[in-house]
Amino acid sequence: MPGLDDLTRPHDGRPDRPARILFGGDYNPEQWPEETWPEDVRLMKEAGVNSVTLGVFSWARIEPRPGAREFGWLDRLMDLLHAHGIGVVLATPTSSPPPWMGRLHPETLPRDADGRTEWWGSRQHFSHSSPAYRRYAAAVTEDLAARYGGHPALTMWHINNEYCTFDWGDEAARTFRGWLQERYGTLDALNTAWGTAFWSQGYDSWDEILPPRHAHYMKNPAHVLDFRRYTSDMLLECYRAERDIVRRHTPHIPVTTNFMPFWTGQDAWTWAREEDLVSVDIYPDPKDPYGGQYNAMIGDMTRSQAGGGPWMVMEQAAGPVNWRGVNHPKPYGLNRLWSLQSVAHGADALCYFQWRQSRQGAEKFHSGMLGHAGEKGRVFREVKEIGRELALVGEQVTGQRVRADVAVLHDWNSWWAGDQDGRLSDLVDHPEIVRAWHRALWESHTTAAFAHPAHDLSAYRLVVVPRLYLLDDTGIENLLAYVRGGGTLVCGFLTGVADEDDRVRPGGMDPRLRELLGIDVLHEWWPLDAGERADCGDFHGTLWSEELAPAPGAEAVAAYRGGELDGLPAVLRNGRAWYVSTLPEPGALRALLARIAQDAGVRPVLDGLPDGVEAIRRGELLFVLNHHRDEVTVKIPGHHRDLLTGADVDGTLHLARYGVAILEEPA
Ligand code: GAL
Repeated sequence: MPGLDDLTRPHDGRPDRPARILFGGDYNPEQWPEETWPEDVRLMKEAGVNSVTLGVFSWARIEPRPGAREFGWLDRLMDLLHAHGIGVVLATPTSSPPPWMGRLHPETLPRDADGRTEWWGSRQHFSHSSPAYRRYAAAVTEDLAARYGGHPALTMWHINNEYCTFDWGDEAARTFRGWLQERYGTLDALNTAWGTAFWSQGYDSWDEILPPRHAHYMKNPAHVLDFRRYTSDMLLECYRAERDIVRRHTPHIPVTTNFMPFWTGQDAWTWAREEDLVSVDIYPDPKDPYGGQYNAMIGDMTRSQAGGGPWMVMEQAAGPVNWRGVNHPKPYGLNRLWSLQSVAHGADALCYFQWRQSRQGAEKFHSGMLGHAGEKGRVFREVKEIGRELALVGEQVTGQRVRADVAVLHDWNSWWAGDQDGRLSDLVDHPEIVRAWHRALWESHTTAAFAHPAHDLSAYRLVVVPRLYLLDDTGIENLLAYVRGGGTLVCGFLTGVADEDDRVRPGGMDPRLRELLGIDVLHEWWPLDAGERADCGDFHGTLWSEELAPAPGAEAVAAYRGGELDGLPAVLRNGRAWYVSTLPEPGALRALLARIAQDAGVRPVLDGLPDGVEAIRRGELLFVLNHHRDEVTVKIPGHHRDLLTGADVDGTLHLARYGVAILEEPA
């Protein structure tokens, strides 16, 4: 199968043509007069751009009326880019159908849960279930692949863009029923799985089943869970249909679709298996003091979805986005820091949305690599600097793998089931909890990977489960086998509560898991209010607490003090299995995990690193990143050379604000 390596190391071993990191961005030249294109290419060359993504939103340009094909402009662009040695990631334009489609085929438009149509005039207004949409999408994909499959500029296929459209309309109702029939076979089985005995919801005919539309009161959570699973599967069907078309034409060209990280609509574990290379769009908030940790987390997650190998940043922003309430620019150095950080976490391709900032349309205030300030602008100067440095390190960095001894478990099914109406606290937010645990590892300079609960975990010394509310039997058995095989496991609260149908397990937590973790009885959950803190002796817990009775032999490492839970365990240890029934404040969670990691034989990347300085190894290279706005000095044992500056580093490394060093040990 083709992969990212084919693009970054196509001349492996040939010193005259070193391997390279892909660098570039979405290029939407159809927004500009053609006279601008030569200037674009000139500046791309100046910035070291070697890859651009074309066509993401070009459907109306290519097919202005049904069946028409206007490829001339794209022919000229492909030729122009090729003539300048810039590769093209060619997108199928199917995320934004032209207006004629909605006018001629209103059923291609999705509807929200309240029955409102999502009209054209924005983007991503397609029903995944509409045969008309799928027909037109297949036809345009077929013609693109036939026309450009043999073009020398083509390097990669980019299918659609950030698949994310839910549909509660009639087209979806039809395919939802089909999906359910396949899953359950009989209505009896569906009624059992959904627990429809509750509130008189028993279904007597498949036609009675609808997507979970606007309703008087809380919806059936098992119904909603299946709708989320179904939506991910339907979108995946759309992806596969286009992927198979382009693969038929060009089996040697890798195919991807760009993920939104931590997006609820796609089970990215499943999706990643269907891609030749995994790509993601990452937009940390420059004002977030832990933006660097977010960037690290998404890097760790995407690398893990890519099986531990290289992955691609399909989009990031050179400056501000324009979809937050208040949108901040990146201070000088931050774009470079986060870019090289992604490389440190395994990215071999680093691209932006978008090359040239728009002057019109909804994203005219969203930054580009080439902003409104043009080539003299500070942002473009930094982009050039990044391009230059990536070219410098491409040969040594590409293809190198990041090693992690710790895995953080995450599963979309669990998130979907756990964050619904009717739970005890809507302050419990799955991505935030995962982030808190990852942050604790990141702050203790411990490299983490992500894994699915059914993955083989035997390579990890420590497995961390921030919260897996839903765990099927395979997942539970896998965790038991992992600990039995010598692994150390830490589980956060609300883990193993429900089975795959969102049915609460006996005793409120799976009995096998309770036995493993040393919990005899889980009497009650005691959620905490916003700002409320539970005294746990040496630290405070937030968000959640629990009234539980430990099993004989389990050790209460920390206990609640005062209140209803006085004296009951907050943190429980049963051999190599740990249970944390609250969310310790950040410093405490970090200290707890550091202690457990040490016992499990996990070492920080470097000892004695100051807070906010990150170290990570990629292959033999050591990346050191300063997330501070001030200069720092770091002790690095041994003798190294910094690939970026060529300087020798003898025990002491000075890093400027947002500074980065990529160190190698001399041969
Ligand atoms: C992404 C999208 C891009 C652009 C970008 C702005 O979600 O794929 O087309 O809209 O966000 O941040």
